[in-house]
Amino acid sequence: MTTRWRTGPPSGTVAAMTSTPRSEPVHLPDALASFSQLWSPRVALRVNDYDVRVAKVAGDHVWHTHDDTDEFFLVLDGELIIDVREDDDDERRVVLPTGSAYVVPRGQQHRPSAPGGASILMFEPTGTLSTGDHEGALPEHVDATTGHALG
Ligand code: NI
Repeated sequence: MTTRWRTGPPSGTVAAMTSTPRSEPVHLPDALASFSQLWSPRVALRVNDYDVRVAKVAGDHVWHTHDDTDEFFLVLDGELIIDVREDDDDERRVVLPTGSAYVVPRGQQHRPSAPGGASILMFEPTGTLSTGDHEGALPEHVDATTGHALG
């Protein structure tokens, strides 16, 4: 041990500053069971500059677009529907049963819904707003958020 250790901060602090951040596993069913608000994603994990978000959903979200990013969906439970508007403004309905994954391309208008309720995982850049470019009033059951912390 050198004098550096005796005159500097406690060794635990030094270790915390110089070591890799500790990562803990997240049990997604427990994470989903820890909250009840609909269309209100929780950030379960971060990967580089991306969030892994989980959400409980039921009923309709709102039409919106993310101009700067694709949006990844994985259906953990239930069935998610995503209505999308193609370039010619035609609407197409994407039906995603449990276990399905899907990417809404950047710039594409979309409206998720889940008539029977669902639990979903989303992967998108940190800071992405859940309601994208939607303007005006939101239904009470839809939360405009960049993701809440778990717990
Ligand atoms: Ni979206």
